[in-house]
Amino acid sequence: MKFIEWNEEQLGKIKVIDEQHLSLADMLNQMHGLLGSDKNELVKNLLSKFCDDTKTHFDTEENLIKEYKFPNYFSHKMEHDRVLAQINKEKEVIISGGKMLTLEFLNSLRTWMFNHHELNDSKLCKFLAGQGVE
Ligand SMILES: [Fe+2]
Ligand SMILES: [Fe+2]
Repeated sequence: MKFIEWNEEQLGKIKVIDEQHLSLADMLNQMHGLLGSDKNELVKNLLSKFCDDTKTHFDTEENLIKEYKFPNYFSHKMEHDRVLAQINKEKEVIISGGKMLTLEFLNSLRTWMFNHHELNDSKLCKFLAGQGVE
């Protein structure tokens, strides 16, 4: 069983957003598979890519929110900024060798992804679909 399963009902039918969510979930699964291994460089590279791609993904959503004038831009962006700061901080500590990747951290990301999707992204995707975005 996969650590995080991004299933059919979590797909918002907005291609770019769905692809990014699936790719981020896939990276979380890869990191989960590396927990406790001695492949430190691989973990660090993956975590760096995860941070970069998360930033790209948040920019994508924020640009779509602005472009289509979806309400609650600031509260959605605040959630993005909050988690991004948290991920980057953890990344810095891990990359500098201060600690190892932990299950606790991956669990918190998984929970955040599911909650954020349910409370924010799913509504955004529904709205965008209504605007004819595919
Ligand atoms: Fe979002
Ligand atoms: Fe998202």
